[in-house]
Parts: sequence; structure tokens; C-alpha cells
Amino acid sequence: MGNFLAGKVVAVTGAGRGIGRAVALAAAAEGAKVIVNDYGVSIEGGEPTSEVAESVVKEIVAAGGEAVAVADDIATMAGGQRIVDTALAEYGRIDGVVCVAGILRERMLFNMSEEEWDPVVATHLKGTFTVFKAASAVMRKQGGGTLIGFTSGNHQGSVAQANYSAAKGGIISLVRSAALGLHKYGVTANAVAPVARTRMSANVPMELKEIGEPKDVAALVVYLLSERARAEKITGQVYTIAGPKIAVWAQPRELRAGYAEGSWTPEKVADFLPGTVGTDPMPMLERLEEMARAAANRDRPNA
Ligand SMILES: NC(=O)c1ccc[n+]([C@@H]2O[C@H](COP(=O)([O-])OP(=O)(O)OC[C@H]3O[C@@H](n4cnc5c(N)ncnc54)[C@H](O)[C@@H]3O)[C@@H](O)[C@H]2O)c1
Repeated sequence: MGNFLAGKVVAVTGAGRGIGRAVALAAAAEGAKVIVNDYGVSIEGGEPTSEVAESVVKEIVAAGGEAVAVADDIATMAGGQRIVDTALAEYGRIDGVVCVAGILRERMLFNMSEEEWDPVVATHLKGTFTVFKAASAVMRKQGGGTLIGFTSGNHQGSVAQANYSAAKGGIISLVRSAALGLHKYGVTANAVAPVARTRMSANVPMELKEIGEPKDVAALVVYLLSERARAEKITGQVYTIAGPKIAVWAQPRELRAGYAEGSWTPEKVADFLPGTVGTDPMPMLERLEEMARAAANRDRPNA
């Protein structure tokens, strides 16, 4: 066991499988007391079972660590609150929350139903809000803490997962808002965009050229939760981790600007925009053909 997180209390959502499980195991191995949350659902979000969270708690305890299970749905306000209340009741504080839980419901936008949109946005985006909200109220009083959201490279856009992409983009804005709003209370907030072999990545409609294991992602998360990262004042950042690669994403900013004399009219915009501010080429658009070929090879739906 290391001591990167000695004395800290950390909650991890979606900690029963895949990346969340690796984060929970690594945090415990580094000395944290861990709240293991998992609703225990299928990849589409159905058939919940509490066994998934409980089995990770058993693994942590068997390895000599401390953990407690919470099998609630983090898409509910009560679920997010229960995770934080459990941390306080069992261990008296909450130092870090890591919102990893996620589901997929893939469909082309023109065929996507409300039942395919709502639960995906609720699990990822609202599920990050419910935990951040409950945790940040305590961290504000404690005068410190770390919030970590899980996004995806797909926040740039997705052919057949507009629901997932929109939720992942929302998580980045939520993380940046948390970084800004909680800065004066000593709370940091960052986002991780992982690429790792799990049941979810097995469902990605394109070939992943750079991919690693959940434990690689866990190493980054443990660092971000630690005093070492807090000493570097890391906040408001988005990191990709994909096997041996770690990358930081740019902050959104205006690329080019132009100014008109007087007020704009459509005619004036049409004359002015193309030759001055122009466009910023979309990298994913360049890759559409490659993605379509990969999707066809993997027998993916295109409807
Ligand atoms: N694996 C990758 O390469 C990859 C790539 C980009 C982003 N991500 C993101 O990383 C995170 C983890 O993905 P993974 O690959 O480990 O997936 P996974 O399917 O292996 O694990 C997700 C876990 O979340 C749990 N969960 C789902 N809904 C929940 C809810 N409402 N409340 C509590 N728990 C719930 C599931 O039961 C499951 O155990 C997700 O947010 C995913 O979008 C993963």
C-alpha cells in the first residue's frame, strides 16, 4: 500500500465495475477510506443490483483497506446525498468525490427517443451534479476538497451518441463552474477523459488506437485527489489518459474576432464573416469516413 491518500475519505460512483472499480481499489490501496457507489446496472442502465458495489467493498477489505457500499442511483438527489451522508456517518468527513458512473443508449439523433436521451443525461450530467452538490456543501465548510468528473473525447461530438456527447460536454462545463465557484473555499475540480478496456469501451463505434487499462486511469485520479496535485493548484482542467498517454485539453476561447461599424445586418454578416473570422475546422468531421468504416466492421447501428 502507498500513502498518496492517507487519512482521506473518497467517494467513487460507478465503482462496481471498470474504471470506477479500479479507482476505488487504487484509492483504498493508497490509504483512503472509500465509499463504493454502484447502482449495479446493465450498460443501458437497467436491472439494478446491490451486489456489484458490495463485492468491491469485499475486495478492498480483503486487501486490508476500509470501504462501505452505497448501491443508490446517483441520478437522484437522494442518491447523491446518501453517498456524502454515508461518508460523514462512517468516517466523519469527505475529501474527494469521483463521478465515474455512466451508461450508453446509442441511436442516431433523428431516431433518438426521450427514453434514450433522458436517462443518459441524467446518469452522467445530473449524476455528477447530485454528488458535487452534496459534497461541495460539506467541503465548503471543511475549507477544502477535490471534485472529479468523468468526461470523454466524445464531448467533441458523436455520430450516434448525441445524448452521451451532450452529457459529457455538460460535465466539462459543470467541472469548470465548480472550479470557479468553489475556488475561494479551497476546493478543486477537474475532469478526466479516459480510454480504457472495459465493457463500455467494447461498445465504442470506432477503433480506439490509443487505449490502456482502468488502472492507468486510476493512477491519474489518485494523483488528482492527492495533496501533490493540490499543491500544484490543479483545477478547472480536463485530462485525457489513454494507456501511456496523458494529455491536457485546451480551455475554450475565442479564436478570431472581427468588429463592424454600426449594427449588424444579415447582408453585412454575409460579406464580413467568411473572409475574416471564418471557421475553425472540426477534427471529428475529418474522421467521419474512417469512423463509418470502423462502425461497419463492428456491425454498429446507423439508425
Ligand atoms: N472505458 C472507456 O474507454 C471510456 C471512454 C470515455 C469515457 N468513459 C467514461 O468513464 C466512465 C466509466 O466507464 P467504464 O468504461 O468503466 O464503464 P462500465 O460500464 O464498466 O462501468 C460503469 C458503472 O457505472 C454504474 N452505473 C451506471 N448507472 C449508475 C447510476 N445511475 N448510479 C450509480 N452507478 C451507476 C454501472 O453499474 C457500472 O458498474 C463513464 O462515465 C464513461 O462514460 C469511459
